[in-house]
Amino acid sequence: MSDSFVTAKITTSEEESSLPILEGTMGPKAVDIQTLYGRHGLLAFDPGFRSTASCKSAITYVDGDKGVLLYRGYPIEELAEKSNFIEVAYLLMFGQLPDQKQIQEFTGNVHHFSVLHEQVLSFYQGFRRDAHPMAIIVGTVGALSAFYHDHMDINDPVQRTMAATRLVAKIPTIAAAAYTYSVGHPHRYPDNALDYASNFMQMVFGMPNKEFVPDPVLCRAMDRILILHADHEQNASTSTVRLAASSGANPFACIASGIASLWGPAHGGANEAVLMMLEEIGDVKNIPKAVNRAKDKSNDYRLMGFGHRVYKNFDPRARVIQKSAREVLEHMGINDPLLEIAVRLEEIALKDEYFIERKLYPNVDFYSGILLRAMGFPNNMFTVIFAVARTVGWVSHWLELQHEGHGIDRPRQLYVGEARRPYPHK
Ligand code: CMC
Repeated sequence: MSDSFVTAKITTSEEESSLPILEGTMGPKAVDIQTLYGRHGLLAFDPGFRSTASCKSAITYVDGDKGVLLYRGYPIEELAEKSNFIEVAYLLMFGQLPDQKQIQEFTGNVHHFSVLHEQVLSFYQGFRRDAHPMAIIVGTVGALSAFYHDHMDINDPVQRTMAATRLVAKIPTIAAAAYTYSVGHPHRYPDNALDYASNFMQMVFGMPNKEFVPDPVLCRAMDRILILHADHEQNASTSTVRLAASSGANPFACIASGIASLWGPAHGGANEAVLMMLEEIGDVKNIPKAVNRAKDKSNDYRLMGFGHRVYKNFDPRARVIQKSAREVLEHMGINDPLLEIAVRLEEIALKDEYFIERKLYPNVDFYSGILLRAMGFPNNMFTVIFAVARTVGWVSHWLELQHEGHGIDRPRQLYVGEARRPYPHK
């Protein structure tokens, strides 16, 4: 990264001055407007942050026009093919792929922290049995701050790494317990003999009266899902985590805020919404009606799993997920009519002028629901699995932000309310 001497000129009615232009390793340059208010009394107006780089980051790179996603410089397709989730977690958190010794130590720490304090399990009883598992995990992860607050010094890098590792270790256990609670199954403890993805599968689907035998195809598919969802630079939930963290808040509370943001249907909640949409379409013959509805500006209906704020090309994660979905369906001998509807819907939308003009392509969520359903997960667990994976991204950004000693984030606003006015006499 170089802070270039190239500048952007700013001309107001009073004066003309220049602002530095910053250049990253790749991607668009950024005008440094930090002095704009101090020098000109002007604010930058960018609701939705369409043109705002909120920070410098060395974790993930997305080129939305070319459909490229790199974690610490490595293409997502290669990581999904050649790595496993725990290596990718290490890569995102610490910047390099681990060597043998590093992966052993990290895996050991993840194993060590994977069990929940027994008192945490009692929180689950307070939720209604039919509570959405996202509601349960927001509450439970936030509640962990009550267990690890007083002893936590976020200015100590060793304690920071421990908090981040704890979160990565505990989130599958928390997520699986949300599932077992909702279906009335006994809570399963983690099994350190299994890899991260297989252990998650055993905690979700294992029963005490039957030995759990991991299915390698399903566990590999889960590992891939986790890799693909692990990070995506400054999306809504990651920005939420960074914003919460900028005040020095407890890391468990910060990650809970990220989970809350992820839940929305415009973000991580889209995978659940895609399945609901496909189920509602119900038959290939109804696709044109759904596409027309999505194009109709008089209603809010959108094709879920289509479009992305950054990708104006194929989401590279969508291709990997689609391949994985086919492999799993074939392996399970499932002929899911929703897959046919999804494939036809994609074909029709990609040829439609409305979607071409707006560069709306399938995103990661378009096929992930079909894949997760084939693996036996109910719809309401899809976003939970996204949260399990994204916890690695959130803690990586949290570590990066703490390391840089970032001050508090405090956006401004363009005030459009009433001007000062006298209080009415009574
Ligand atoms: N179906 C129909 N029209 C769409 C869609 C869609 N899925 N997405 C965008 N548009 C239209 C939108 O109506 C607008 O049209 P116009 O210019 O005529 O007003 C135009 O495309 C630009 O849309 P936008 O809302 O300004 O785009 P955005 O960058 O604010 O929104 C998005 C990005 C992902 C929220 C949006 O595409 C969307 O709602 N998609 C469906 C939900 C979804 O799949 N979300 C998962 C995102 S990927 C996983 C993740 O990162 O969490």
